[in-house]
Amino acid sequence: MTQNKITELFQIKYPIVQAGMVWVSGSKLAAAAANAGALGLLGGGSMSPDLLRSHIRAAKTLTKNPFGVNLPLLYSKIEEQIDVCLEEGIKIFFTSAGSPKKHTPRLKDHGCTVVHVTSNPDLAMKCEDAGVDAVVAEGFEAGGHNGRDELTTMVLIPQIVNAVKIPVIAAGGIADGQSMAAAFCLGASAVQIGSRFAATQESSAHENFKQAILSANYNSTMLCMKSTVPVRLLKNEFYVKISELEKKCAPNSEILDYLGSGRAKKGMLEGNLVEGELEIGQVAALIKDLPTCHDLVKRMIEDYNAQRLKLSPL
Ligand SMILES: Cc1cc2nc3c(=O)[nH]c(=O)nc-3n(C[C@H](O)[C@H](O)[C@H](O)COP(=O)(O)O)c2cc1C
Repeated sequence: MTQNKITELFQIKYPIVQAGMVWVSGSKLAAAAANAGALGLLGGGSMSPDLLRSHIRAAKTLTKNPFGVNLPLLYSKIEEQIDVCLEEGIKIFFTSAGSPKKHTPRLKDHGCTVVHVTSNPDLAMKCEDAGVDAVVAEGFEAGGHNGRDELTTMVLIPQIVNAVKIPVIAAGGIADGQSMAAAFCLGASAVQIGSRFAATQESSAHENFKQAILSANYNSTMLCMKSTVPVRLLKNEFYVKISELEKKCAPNSEILDYLGSGRAKKGMLEGNLVEGELEIGQVAALIKDLPTCHDLVKRMIEDYNAQRLKLSPL
């Protein structure tokens, strides 16, 4: 592929970002994605500051290519997590779930590249005003935490591309060369891919969770907890209980009490498919194998190039 704004910004071979994912994207995955020519991201949200430091150090031993850290801004240890990243020389930050205004100036003062995740054009414009270098436009189909607007990737990308001047990275429902080509047709400069990378050899998702992803069909995921912490997940017993609470219009406090803490770890890292929270996107229905990152990226680029040639003039 030829270079573009995003490959130049991050000094990477392909305009593919391996999404930061709690409990799933540790040093092994981020380094493998970086070695495959993508931008690898550590999912810092689920890591204590000390654990984050050790993953950063481990990733440095596993790759010489650039990698970054994803930090959802809603966690209580965010200041310490940022301190650790800066002390360890991290230069690429993907932030989400909070205001881009709060931490971007400090990160820019340290010479970092900052990208913020958005789910609508208004928020994308706020990110641009806050001084970020690029935005992720994450559609309704995406796995994990999501916006409330229900804007699908197909309609979201062009709106955000029209709203801002900075490069747009498309996310949500992208898992192969075909969907990657579609995102580029809509004006994206790169793709951020979560679910597909969760189902790779190097992801730290529990084997039970990986097998559950492979068994998913069109009807297997749902965006739930829209009134509290909207998240797309695999339907299981935990999901059924939460949706029963939502159907009977339970107060948010009751929903959050039932959610408790540690649900995502229980599901995604420890493999409890009954009681755990299993974050995954609609695209799980198209995921049928567990490749290495190297084979996945190679296949995506080959498919992307083949797809481009198939588009004949009308
Ligand atoms: C298991 C899982 C965990 C995730 N954790 C995070 C996270 O910690 N921070 C974040 O910004 N996004 C998170 N996401 C969203 C991804 O970064 C990405 O934007 C999304 O997965 C893209 O959609 P896709 O799953 O269809 O590829 C997560 C997604 C998944 C599937």
